[in-house]
Amino acid sequence: MQAFVLKGHICQSRDAEHIEITENGFLVVEDGICRGVFGALPERWAALPVTDFGDRLILPGMSDLHLHAPQFSFRGLGMDMELLDWLNTYTFPEESKYRDPAYADRAYDIFTRHLLHSTTTRVSVFATVHREATTLLMEKLDRAGLRGFVGKVNMDRNCADTLREASAAASLEDTERWIEQTHSRFAGIRPILTPRFIPTCSDELMRGLRVLADRYDLPVQSHLSENFGEIAWVKELCPWSSCYGDAYDRFGLFGGEHGCIMAHCVHSGEEEIARMKQNGVYIAHSPESNMNLASGVAPVSRYLALGLNVGLATDMAGGSHESMLRAMMHAIQASKLRWRLQDEAVKPLSVDQAFYLATAGGGSFFGRVGKFDDGYECDAVVMDDGDLDHPQPLSVRARLERLIYLADDRNVAAKFVAGRRLF
Ligand code: GUN
Ligand code: FE
Repeated sequence: MQAFVLKGHICQSRDAEHIEITENGFLVVEDGICRGVFGALPERWAALPVTDFGDRLILPGMSDLHLHAPQFSFRGLGMDMELLDWLNTYTFPEESKYRDPAYADRAYDIFTRHLLHSTTTRVSVFATVHREATTLLMEKLDRAGLRGFVGKVNMDRNCADTLREASAAASLEDTERWIEQTHSRFAGIRPILTPRFIPTCSDELMRGLRVLADRYDLPVQSHLSENFGEIAWVKELCPWSSCYGDAYDRFGLFGGEHGCIMAHCVHSGEEEIARMKQNGVYIAHSPESNMNLASGVAPVSRYLALGLNVGLATDMAGGSHESMLRAMMHAIQASKLRWRLQDEAVKPLSVDQAFYLATAGGGSFFGRVGKFDDGYECDAVVMDDGDLDHPQPLSVRARLERLIYLADDRNVAAKFVAGRRLF
C-alpha cells in the first residue's frame, strides 16, 4: 500500500457556507484515498513519509463541470455576439477543423498542457463530433493524469454542413463505436453522452442516445436555458415541451440513474428547477461565459438554497480562461451585479460558497471528490503565494481570498489527482 502525508495550511469546505482551515495541518493519504485532516499527526500514521509544503496552502483539486476542448484555440476571441450567432460564426468553423487528426493533435496538446498546470483535477469536457479526435483528447488527458469525462458531440440538424452528422442513425452508430473503443480503455477518463443541445439533435437521435445511456450506463452532458433566443427556438422545435428541460426529460436524458450535467441554467423557470432537483441534475454554472455571450447571470445562491446540485465551470471558449480561480471570482462578481441590478431577493455569492462550488459542489459529480475527509479521493493543489507580497503578515483565510482574485498557474506548486502527484 502506498501511503503518505502532506503538511501545510489545509483549506476545504465544511459545507456550502463555510471554509475550514487547518493551519500547519496533516493530510493522511492511503492508496489515493484521504484519511482526513489533522492538527497533529495521529500516532498510527507517525511512520509515514511526510511531504512538508511549509507555509503553502493545500486546497482540494477543482472540478470544471463544463468546457469545450476544441474551442480553446479561439479563447479570448469573438466575444461580440450572442450565443446562436457566436456558434455559427466562430464555433462551428473552428470545430470543423477537428476532422483533421493532425490539427486535433496539435490543438489538444496545447489544451491538455494548460489544464495540467491549472488548479483543475476533474473535468467534464465536450470534444467535437469527430470520433478519432475525441479519442485522441481522451488519451492526452489520461496520459496527463487528469480525470473525468469526455464527450463525442452529437448533432444531426441545424448546424454547419461541415459538422452535421449524416443522420441520426449514422451519429448513433459512430457514437456506439466510440463508446466500445473507449469505455474501459483509460485509467481516469471515461465517455459521456453529449447531445450538443436540443436545437442540433433530432428526436430520433435523442431516443437512440437514451438507449446507449442504458446499454453502457453512461452519464449525459448538455446545455440548458442559456440564452433567450435559444429558449424560444427550443419551444418552436418542441412545441409539446412544457419547458426546455422537459425537452430532454421526455427522452430520459435529464438526470436519474446515469447522472447528468446541464450547463448554464441562467433562465430556468420554476418547473425546470423542480425537475432538476427531482432528477439530481448537476448545474454547471459558467459565469464568465454567461457574461461574454451576454446570456445573463444564473441565480446560483438560490439554487444552493434549494438544495440543487451545483458546480462551477469555465465553459471555454464561451469563457476565456481555464482557471477555476478566475471562475470563482467571476461567479462572485456576477452574482453581485445580479443582486444589485436584477433581483435583490437572490443574495450575492460569498467566497465560501464560490470555493464550495469549485471543489466539493462540482466534485461530487465524480464520486467522493472535492474534500479531504475520510474516504475522499485525494485530489489536491498546493498553492504558493510567495510572489503576492504584502507589507504585513496575513491570515491563511486572507491569503486564500487573495489567491482566488490574484493567483494564476504560476502559483500552483504541486498537484495530486487520486493520490498521484502530477508535478
Ligand atoms: N450551446 C450549444 N453549443 C454551445 C457551445 O459550444 N457553447 C455554449 N456556451 N453554449 C452552447
Ligand atoms: Fe458550453
